[in-house]
Amino acid sequence: MYILSIDTSCDDTSIAISNDLNILANVFWSKLKVHNDWGGVVPSEAKRQHDEFLVPAIEAALKEADLTIDQIDVIAVTYGPGLAIALESGIKKAKELAIKNNKKFIAVNHMIGHIYANLANDKNGDSLSSLSENKFEGFEFPALALTISGGHTDLYLMEDHLKFKHIGKTLDDAIGESFDKVGRMLGMGFPAGAKIEQAAKSGNEKAFNFPKPLSNSNDFNWSYSGLKTAVLYEVKKLLGEYQSKPGKNKFKFEDNSSKLNEVQVADIAASFQLAASESLILKIKKALLAYPETKMLIIGGGVIANQTIRQKLENLASEFNIKLTYPKPMWLCTDNAAMIATAAYYYAKQNLYINEKEIASIDRVPNLEIN
Ligand code: KG4
Ligand code: ZN
Repeated sequence: MYILSIDTSCDDTSIAISNDLNILANVFWSKLKVHNDWGGVVPSEAKRQHDEFLVPAIEAALKEADLTIDQIDVIAVTYGPGLAIALESGIKKAKELAIKNNKKFIAVNHMIGHIYANLANDKNGDSLSSLSENKFEGFEFPALALTISGGHTDLYLMEDHLKFKHIGKTLDDAIGESFDKVGRMLGMGFPAGAKIEQAAKSGNEKAFNFPKPLSNSNDFNWSYSGLKTAVLYEVKKLLGEYQSKPGKNKFKFEDNSSKLNEVQVADIAASFQLAASESLILKIKKALLAYPETKMLIIGGGVIANQTIRQKLENLASEFNIKLTYPKPMWLCTDNAAMIATAAYYYAKQNLYINEKEIASIDRVPNLEIN
């Protein structure tokens, strides 16, 4: 089954073409990174780029896969979560392609895509999972699935394919968002996750004792907003701008890079990364204790690029004697359309097609949740 998939949930215009789970073509186009004051994506700019890129990116993907649109069986598209007007561009194009060429249509949840990225193969059929060297044979249930990205920190119990029970979430900021906001304070631009990781390598993770909010609660929820604020106060203290009188400190997330020295930046990055990663692991451990039948830990989302977080998850998986999978290549961890194609393959297996009459009414759902 040939699937053409589209993801325009954020600022990358991503198109993939797959044959079942084998990714034949994978195209990302993103010309300018236009960001707002705190470093986020400007939705109207993202939309403008999608409208410009979609047609040539689809042509480029078909060419790379050496297929024509006539040979495609299914059009799959992300319908949420994401930026409303950016999602709209991709959905509009997907509907046009499906209706004009009389194709089957599947609307995919982007976060399910991040989880199913683990099942993608390269064009030769070789697995792209971190478990590929250990005869990876797909998901083993019950599994715990964790999504960690710029917008999400969620934990799901998966009893079977596409069967999710939402058991944990962040109550405020996502873990990737906290990396980005701390990066902003340290003058690292956007997104800042990889730069914090780099700076942390030469820092002392014990230099500052940052909080791990909610660590004592018995649920599987996280909170990253307090950690970010604690880092901000520490930065202001280092700069001598902190005042002990209540109500005097209304700090903005401005760039303090020119005012802090390299050692201070490295120590803050390392101490922040320690608190952020330990607070993540703590709740997954609680969930593994609460669900002892768990056979596999499945990770998706851009933050799994972080080696410290990977290592801690590897250690946790060995401690519990379960398998851990995350997408091996970096491009498959961050936003891409290959993961939408892989998820679509499983939607198709369960006959979750949008019927012909309903295609026109498919709309974006910016806050779409899993279940
Ligand atoms: O999944 P993703 O590409 O986009 C969505 O948010 O959907 O994730 C992007 C997030 C950003 O917040 C970025 O800072 C973070 O992943 N990230 C990292 C690393 N690389 C990317 N966070 C920590 N360490 C990294 N090495
Ligand atoms: Zn994403």
